[in-house]
Amino acid sequence: MLLLDPKPQAADLAQSLPTVLPRHVAIIMDGNGRWAKRRGQSRSDGHRAGAESVRAIVRMARKVGIETLTLYAFSEQNWARPAGEIQSLFTLLVEFLASERELLRQHQIRLVALGNTDKLPLPARLALRKVIDDTRDHKAMTLGLCLSYGGREDLVQATQALAAQVRAGTLEPGDITESAITRALWTARLGGDPELVIRTSGEQRLSNFLLWESAYAEFVFSDVDWPDFREAQFAGALRTFAGRQRRYGAVAA
Ligand code: IPE
Ligand code: IPE
Ligand code: MG
Repeated sequence: MLLLDPKPQAADLAQSLPTVLPRHVAIIMDGNGRWAKRRGQSRSDGHRAGAESVRAIVRMARKVGIETLTLYAFSEQNWARPAGEIQSLFTLLVEFLASERELLRQHQIRLVALGNTDKLPLPARLALRKVIDDTRDHKAMTLGLCLSYGGREDLVQATQALAAQVRAGTLEPGDITESAITRALWTARLGGDPELVIRTSGEQRLSNFLLWESAYAEFVFSDVDWPDFREAQFAGALRTFAGRQRRYGAVAA
């Protein structure tokens, strides 16, 4: 008798993956609130369930050999949310960092934080600092967490930094090239542009995510809310990416 496991394990999914994988995947993790509302639960419950998806997707990304996984966890604009929700999000971040520290060590994953992280509550800043320091030499995968992040905010801070160098006489205006801008952005630490950007929950917008970096990214929009986005959905997005033809403005070969 042949019974197909309705819930394939990550190992099986890894085998069903295409051979062409993106090096850098970035995810707009959206829909926690709606997921919770449908269940009569609080938005914080939705974020807690979403944190489980983060755990699952980080593990799978590492397993299949993604080099960089960038997660949009909290936008600069998310400060407009109720204080209680913001507090629960940063409590979850501290819990996540404590529970994943060992995994990041074992699997040689480097954590980087991108955004105005000085604005984060102190416990979150301390926990981040510790894990970033612990993992800074890890080479197997980079996990980028966007926290108090905005693509426009990044472009503004990069522009200010470059302008200061021009004023100091250490940079000529003509030296402000694409690569100089890329190097001045917070995202320089990610080591390259995302090839695949995924957004969950059916919304189809960037919401200020990786504006400069996603110039030639492929986009996959999933109707599934983030708490339900697990290995099978990630594998599906990777297969969709593998089926895309990327032309970069040129004519198909
Ligand atoms: C994503 O889920 C988490 C954050 C933006 C912090 P949302 O909280 O945006 O959930 P919805 O979009 O309201 O359903
Ligand atoms: C984008 O989601 C930010 C994150 C996923 C962290 P939002 O839920 O904040 O975006 P909008 O408000 O729907 O554009
Ligand atoms: Mg949302």
